[in-house]
Amino acid sequence: MRIGVIGAGQLGRMLALAGYPLGMRFMFLDRSDDTPAAALGGNVIGAFDDPASLAELVAGSDILTFEFENVPAPALETLPADPPLWPPASALQYAQDRLHEKNLFAELDIASAPSRPVDDLEGLRGAVAELGLPAVLKTRRLGYDGKGQTVLHKQDDIDAAWEKLGDVPLLLEKFIPFDFEVSLIGVRSSTGETVFYPLTRNHHEDGILRYSLAPFEDVALESQAQSALNAIMSRLGYVGVLTVEFFVSDGRLLANEMAPRVHNSGHWTIEGAVTSQFENHLRAIAGLPLGGTTVTGHSAMINFIGSMPDRREVLALANCHLHDYGKSPRPGRKLGHATAVTATVEARDQALQALRRLNVN
Ligand SMILES: Nc1ncnc2c1ncn2[C@@H]1O[C@H](COP(=O)(O)OP(=O)(O)O)[C@@H](O)[C@H]1O
Ligand SMILES: [Mg+2]
Repeated sequence: MRIGVIGAGQLGRMLALAGYPLGMRFMFLDRSDDTPAAALGGNVIGAFDDPASLAELVAGSDILTFEFENVPAPALETLPADPPLWPPASALQYAQDRLHEKNLFAELDIASAPSRPVDDLEGLRGAVAELGLPAVLKTRRLGYDGKGQTVLHKQDDIDAAWEKLGDVPLLLEKFIPFDFEVSLIGVRSSTGETVFYPLTRNHHEDGILRYSLAPFEDVALESQAQSALNAIMSRLGYVGVLTVEFFVSDGRLLANEMAPRVHNSGHWTIEGAVTSQFENHLRAIAGLPLGGTTVTGHSAMINFIGSMPDRREVLALANCHLHDYGKSPRPGRKLGHATAVTATVEARDQALQALRRLNVN
C-alpha cells in the first residue's frame, strides 16, 4: 500500500516510521528534499499547489493524506476522487481559518472563547469594546506555534497590535485565564470505528508546546472532550486522527483549536500507548482495524526547541526515548522531542524535571 503524504516534516517522518512495519510505502510532496521525512520515502519536489507535482504524487499513491494544515485550497480542488484523500478536504477548510473553526464549534454547541472577526482598525476597536481586555488578536489563517498572534492588555496596545498583524483577516478572542490546557486525540477509520486516547495535559510557553503529560485522568472532562470530537467527526465524515486543544477553566472545557492530523501533543503515544497516533492514523485511512489506545505507563514528552541537547545525556536517563528530526537549528524551531514512560506519576514528574534541565531553552 502506497501512502502519498502532502508535506515532509517531522510528522511525515513519524508516520513513515510507523507505517513500514505494516508493509506501507511512502511518497512525500514538499518544496525541498532537505526535510525530516525525505530519507524515508520517495520525494516529489514542488509547490503544494503545483499541478504537475500533485499529479506525480497522485500517480504514485493508493491513499493520500497530509501532515500539515495549510494545503492551499486550489491544490485540494484539483485532486481526483481516486486515490482518496483522508482526512476529508472539508476538515482542512475548517482548520485553516480560525473564523470557520469557531463557526463549526458554535454550530455543534462546542463551547469556545468568545471572539469577533476583525478586518480593519475600526473593527478592532469595536471588537475590543465588545469583548473587553485582555484579549488575543490572531491571524485567521497560517498561524502556528504561537506565531501570528499578540495579546492586548490595554487600550494603548490596539495600534501596535494592528501594526503587527493588520492587513490580513484577523480574529479577536477574549483572553481566557485558564487553569491548564488539555488535548484529546481521536481516531475514526473509514469503516466508522472510533477510538480515543486518554486526555493529555499540555504546557505552552510563548504560544509553543513545551511539554505534555499523559494520561491526564479526569473522567468528566474526558467525556466532555469525547462528545466534542464525536460531533466534529460525524459532522465532517471524518477519517484519520483528529486533535482538539482545550482550555480548562472552572472545571469546564473551552475548545481552542482543532488539528485534522497527528499532533505534537500525541507524540507520547509512540512509546506510551499500545498503538501510536501515527500507526492509528495510517490504520484509519487504510480501512484497517484500529489499534488499542491503552497507556503503557505515565508519559512525559518534552519538545526540543531551538537547539538539541546532548543525545548522550538524554539517553542516559532511565526510560527515555529520543527523537531527533534531523533539522537545522533555528530559534523557536521544533528540532526533536523525548518521551519518558514510567510506572508512577512521581517517577514521571522526576523524569520531566530531568528532561527540562537538559533542554537549555
Ligand atoms: N484566548 C486565549 N486565552 C489565553 N491563552 C491563549 C488564548 N489563545 C491562545 N492562547 C495561548 O497560546 C497558545 C497557542 O495558541 P493557539 O490558538 O493554539 O495557536 P497555534 O495555532 O499557534 O497553536 C495556546 O495553547 C494558549 O496557551
Ligand atoms: Mg494551538
